[in-house]
Amino acid sequence: MREIKTIAVLTSGGDAPGMNACIRAVTRSAIFHNMKVIGVYRGYDGLINEEFQEFTSSSVSNTIQRGGTILKTARSKEFMTPEGRKKAYDNMVKNKIDALIVIGGNGSLTGAQQFAREYDLPIIGLPGTIDNDLYGTDHTIGYDTALNTIVECVDKIRDTANSHDRIFFVEVMGRDAGFLAQNSAIASGAEAAIIPEDKTDVDQLAEFISRGVRKSKNSSIVLVSESKHGGHGGAMYYAERVRKEYPQYNVQVTILGHLQRGGTPSAYDRILASRLGYASIEALMEGQRNIMVGISNDEIVYVPIQRAVKMDKPINKELIDVLSVLSL
Ligand code: F6P
Repeated sequence: MREIKTIAVLTSGGDAPGMNACIRAVTRSAIFHNMKVIGVYRGYDGLINEEFQEFTSSSVSNTIQRGGTILKTARSKEFMTPEGRKKAYDNMVKNKIDALIVIGGNGSLTGAQQFAREYDLPIIGLPGTIDNDLYGTDHTIGYDTALNTIVECVDKIRDTANSHDRIFFVEVMGRDAGFLAQNSAIASGAEAAIIPEDKTDVDQLAEFISRGVRKSKNSSIVLVSESKHGGHGGAMYYAERVRKEYPQYNVQVTILGHLQRGGTPSAYDRILASRLGYASIEALMEGQRNIMVGISNDEIVYVPIQRAVKMDKPINKELIDVLSVLSL
């Protein structure tokens, strides 16, 4: 096993609250073990363009509470090409970088997996995305904060929904996963959630209307996942359908958008990010490579990157029952 003297760390894909806490943990844990740390700016684009800066312990001071990512981020098109990955690898060799830590979501870890397949290089992935859609980890960095942000917004929307006796379709992020929609619906006391994982034959909108929620309550909030299959989905789609099929209802749409990605990370995300960042360096020292470090039942786990990105993370079906019973 080659001794690891220098590591590089980057953030990639959509930013997520807690990424800074993770960069801090990676940096300080590596320095603790006498490793040199290179911060790479703008994700994989920074590897290709050699946007490197040596990080010291003070480079990450006063960052644990900050949203976004001090390393900036990008969705690199060039890294998707073999030529781009070759440039990235050559820059790593040139700068004597022995291992790479990638903090990001599904697309970013898929890139890491491809890179690791082509070049003999230890890579550790850390789950950083508000979507919570990586297999093998109970939670991803940023998910808890985004959930709290959504709930805060929905609490406000409820005031006006109630005053006007309206149905609100509130669209939330999550790409093709419904974790944010389902759990924010439970936490905000919403009447329903429409999520891509609930693939029964039953039309989720028709079911919500037929439950007669509006008969017993004078307003309703439905959390809708942004996921669109065959052009169907998203809050606009369902609002339009209600306007056409149930014109007696007063319908409004709120798309929460990127405000879900910002803000100061929750205590949970800071702790998760700190634990995962620390564990990534421990994993490297144990000789681990091409794994994602995650958390399961409050224990650190190692998941082959391939599994983390390829397997579908199931949503706990009990959550669907909980919402449906509690929203009666
Ligand atoms: O993966 C994080 C995420 O916020 C998704 O929930 C969303 O679909 C996507 O990124 C939005 O990406 P962008 O900021 O590039 O529009």
